[in-house]
Amino acid sequence: MDTKRMIFCLLVAAIISPVFTEEWRASVVKELDALVTSCVVVPCSFTHPKENLPTSRLRGIWHRSTDKNQRIYYEDSTQVLENFRGRTKLLGQLGQNNCTLEITNIKDHDNGPFCFRIELARTETDTSTVDKFSFVESCVTLRMSLPDPPNPTLSHPKTAIQDRPYTITCSVRHTCPSHVPKLTWSRGTADEVTEVHKEISLGYWEAQSILAIIPEEKDDHSDVTCTAEFNGQKTSSATLRLYVKRTENYNHIIIPTVAVIGTAVIFAVFCIFMVKRYKKRIAELQNQEGSVWNRLSECLAGESKGEN
Ligand SMILES: *[C@@H]1O[C@H](CO)[C@@H](O)[C@H](O)[C@H]1NC(C)=O
Repeated sequence: MDTKRMIFCLLVAAIISPVFTEEWRASVVKELDALVTSCVVVPCSFTHPKENLPTSRLRGIWHRSTDKNQRIYYEDSTQVLENFRGRTKLLGQLGQNNCTLEITNIKDHDNGPFCFRIELARTETDTSTVDKFSFVESCVTLRMSLPDPPNPTLSHPKTAIQDRPYTITCSVRHTCPSHVPKLTWSRGTADEVTEVHKEISLGYWEAQSILAIIPEEKDDHSDVTCTAEFNGQKTSSATLRLYVKRTENYNHIIIPTVAVIGTAVIFAVFCIFMVKRYKKRIAELQNQEGSVWNRLSECLAGESKGEN
């Protein structure tokens, strides 16, 4: 009979316990890359069965997985490990089921795992008596795989064409959306730059800077550098050499040709006019000369007649 009862109890427990644990659930990103000296934002959210819990009854705790009392974040900073004091902040609003954690000034031993746990005060006034809920399965491990910051990547069309718009995109991945890396260019003005910031996967963000320039002939073989400055002053950069293809430009042929043809036409018109004018004049002169000659020849003829 004892064993039967035990089995029954175990069955009941097995049925009930997941219901209880499922109702209070936190989801935390499992692993995140972090950059030493920079910051990291750990996305975290939780669900609970009770609707509209006042934020004042909720206490969020982040602690080391090895020991619940090794708190890296708590409202009362005196209960936080000295090493983490002032470096951790709950960015999420517990009232909105958001337990997102920010750790700044990352140190190389901040690997974790760090776990989220929530305490619920029985009443708003009696905050010392708490129902405790623990989500030990919801922990994050930070990977300090990046002693140096990642280099930005540049994407662009292969060749630039003179006097045509040319865009270069500089992108860098990071895990600190609360202090986005600053991307700067070695050339270009603010109005030539567009900035984009987006989450690419849970906890991972991409900052983008898009530079739109109109390359000139003199930009051929010049370098364009994009520098990323991360929170905590670490920098990295990427450089691109511009190859500017000249646009086919016939101005150096067209302008002199037009000038030569224009001059020739004007000269030709002038010549025709002058020739016409002179022809007329010559004709007139010939007529006059003709009459003089006729008269002269008449005279001569008359004289010769008289002689004879
Ligand atoms: C949680 O809070 C953070 C910081 O304010 C915010 O960026 C994020 O979008 C919030 N998450 C959700 C699911 O609302």
